[in-house]
Amino acid sequence: MRSERTPMVAGNWKMYTTSGEGAILIDRVQDLVSDVADRVDVVVCPPFTGLKAASTIIEVDRLPIGLGAQDVFWEDEGAYTGAIAPRMLVELRCGYCIVGHSERREYFGETNETVNRKVLALHRHGITPIVCCGESLGTYEAGQTADFVRTQIREGLAGLTAQQASGVIVAYEPIWAIGTGHTPTPETANDVARMIRATIGAMYGPPAAVSARVLYGGSVKPENAAMFFSEPDIDGALVGGAALKAGAFSDIVHAAS
Ligand code: 13P
Repeated sequence: MRSERTPMVAGNWKMYTTSGEGAILIDRVQDLVSDVADRVDVVVCPPFTGLKAASTIIEVDRLPIGLGAQDVFWEDEGAYTGAIAPRMLVELRCGYCIVGHSERREYFGETNETVNRKVLALHRHGITPIVCCGESLGTYEAGQTADFVRTQIREGLAGLTAQQASGVIVAYEPIWAIGTGHTPTPETANDVARMIRATIGAMYGPPAAVSARVLYGGSVKPENAAMFFSEPDIDGALVGGAALKAGAFSDIVHAAS
């Protein structure tokens, strides 16, 4: 992990935790990570219904924890039943928003084009997207990972300003590694992370490539986190299951510090 980029460990809580359960989890996480919070950007991404409570706890207790949503719609407002606009997230002090998670792509029809619309909308409102990419097992086994992920990045991150590009956060999450206990080797994950960085460099120039943060996601646990974090192009992790246990999440945060 390169020292000039601040490591980030973000917890994607997916469709787990009620608002009350989430509040308890944040409290526990904070107790365990406060000693390294100045060295690692720690972010939690509860479901929409948990954002208000999480935001209030973070604000009232002045916790050094970032707050993220798991999705957003690109319009500012309108007749879009069930959708959440960026400015609604701004009001809840969300600094981040996951976009293009493979579960959104699989179950909710997300495409590279809709990912891009969301990325641009979030930037218009000052929220940093955490843009997910990653290949299926079939694509991996066919040796097509680089081509597939490069296209996701080119299309998903199109149209940024140079300043926006310099703050890019990408999470590389091979679909076959999510929730399965299987992972690529750290070297393989780093190869993809380096390719993502090079793609950002080709689109927006070397400064963006150097400052962009690339996280690894997919079965990250306390036991394997340090191996991924020791790779030069991996700047942290987007954590699913292990983010729901304060102790495991804290161990991963400490591995990044
Ligand atoms: P797991 O850590 O449960 O494999 O999930 C990874 C993920 O999808 C994070 O966004």
